[in-house]
Amino acid sequence: MSKYVINGGRKLNGQIDINGAKNSVLPLLAAALLTDEPVRIGNCPILTDVDNMIRIITSLGASVNRDGSYIEIKSAGLCAYEIPKRQAKELRSSVFLMGSILGRMKKAKVAYPGGCDIGLRPIDIHLKALSELNVKIVEKYGYINCDANMMKASNVFLDYPSVGATENIMLLSAISEGITIISNVAREPEIVELQNFLNSMGAKIEGAGSSCIKIEGVRKLKGTDYYAMPDRIVTGTIMMAVALCGGDVVLNYTNHTHIDAVISKLRKSGCNIIVESDKICIQSFTRLNSLGYVETGPYPGYPTDLQAPLAALASTADGTTILVENIFENRFKHLPELCKMGANIRVKDRIAFISGVKQLTGAEVIAMDLRGGASLVLAGLSASQLTVVHDIQHIERGYENLDKIFVALGADIIKIC
Ligand code: EPZ
Repeated sequence: MSKYVINGGRKLNGQIDINGAKNSVLPLLAAALLTDEPVRIGNCPILTDVDNMIRIITSLGASVNRDGSYIEIKSAGLCAYEIPKRQAKELRSSVFLMGSILGRMKKAKVAYPGGCDIGLRPIDIHLKALSELNVKIVEKYGYINCDANMMKASNVFLDYPSVGATENIMLLSAISEGITIISNVAREPEIVELQNFLNSMGAKIEGAGSSCIKIEGVRKLKGTDYYAMPDRIVTGTIMMAVALCGGDVVLNYTNHTHIDAVISKLRKSGCNIIVESDKICIQSFTRLNSLGYVETGPYPGYPTDLQAPLAALASTADGTTILVENIFENRFKHLPELCKMGANIRVKDRIAFISGVKQLTGAEVIAMDLRGGASLVLAGLSASQLTVVHDIQHIERGYENLDKIFVALGADIIKIC
């Protein structure tokens, strides 16, 4: 298992280019199956989650060519509609392939993706929405068997603004006859991006970014050439590293409007942040103030994917930060690892009480999940002495060359395979 070895305590200075968004490219790759014409997507990050998605769509009969950050998908040869257990487990996000496969093949057989590092991850909201569109669903032997031959466009209400469920219904309804209206949808930027991508293929979708999306199904979608949006979670993670370590960094090719909630918290903590077009400049020269009370919530609330990096930042802020994780039930596994580095954190249910200490001390810690692992890297970058972060395969699911990014900004971090 690979690890990062970090000699902490250095400030971060310079500039970095932000890569494409994992949580946007994954649904765009699923959407590419909706047409038998070639689709090209630029600005795709090189990540294991993207590799796994490519493996799954190839197993369904599509052909995929990758050239650096460009991916071309040709799914004229799409011939299968089953996602086996191992693949579904390897990549939970394969669940929104259901919508695409049903749209093209009218049938889908997907293994239950099951839980993951951060929670049980049920898909009841996906299934309820599909059944409201008259998709016949039979759950048997750990598989979900869906039949969309009798599918009927309709009004669908999501009991919770689930990102994946919103994406699944958009994908299925885009090429299904009739008008589907989904209420109480997720409003994340990745949903807007999926609408723009599908509309560039000839779909007729409106309302993404609001709480209601209208989809007028079309008979056929055409190919497209699309450039994916920047990764807002990578942007926020790097900004928190600068806030935590101190320094002056410009982030290029990003979109500050996607992380208003994060920018507001970082300004409150004492960082100086200047935004202009696709750049963000963040400066941090003094010890941070406590972040006060932070609750994660659906967009535009504070993003759950930046809860763990914020915990690292709060660990050395001046005062107590109260962090409430409202989205996933098991997303505090990085906190005991931060305590090994001297953090003063108490947890009760989904609330973490973090009393800032002057500085963390390096230690051997273990990454338990993607964003928790990133928070341990940030802690190591700011800590005195040496930190070793084990099991970094979790981190490489969602961060492209995280060590190289920080070396470019002056940090002393190396990856040992
Ligand atoms: C997406 O997951 C992201 N993943 C997650 O990022 C992100 O944390 C999450 O949205 C919330 O923003 C991708 O886009 C690939 P949800 P998703 O459906 O779609 C519950 C990362 O670190 N729920 O909005 O799975 C669910 O258990 C990952 O990059 C149901 O109960 O999120 C969770 O508590 C982690 N039933 C909450 O809703 C359902 O049918 C939010 O889930 C579906 C969801």
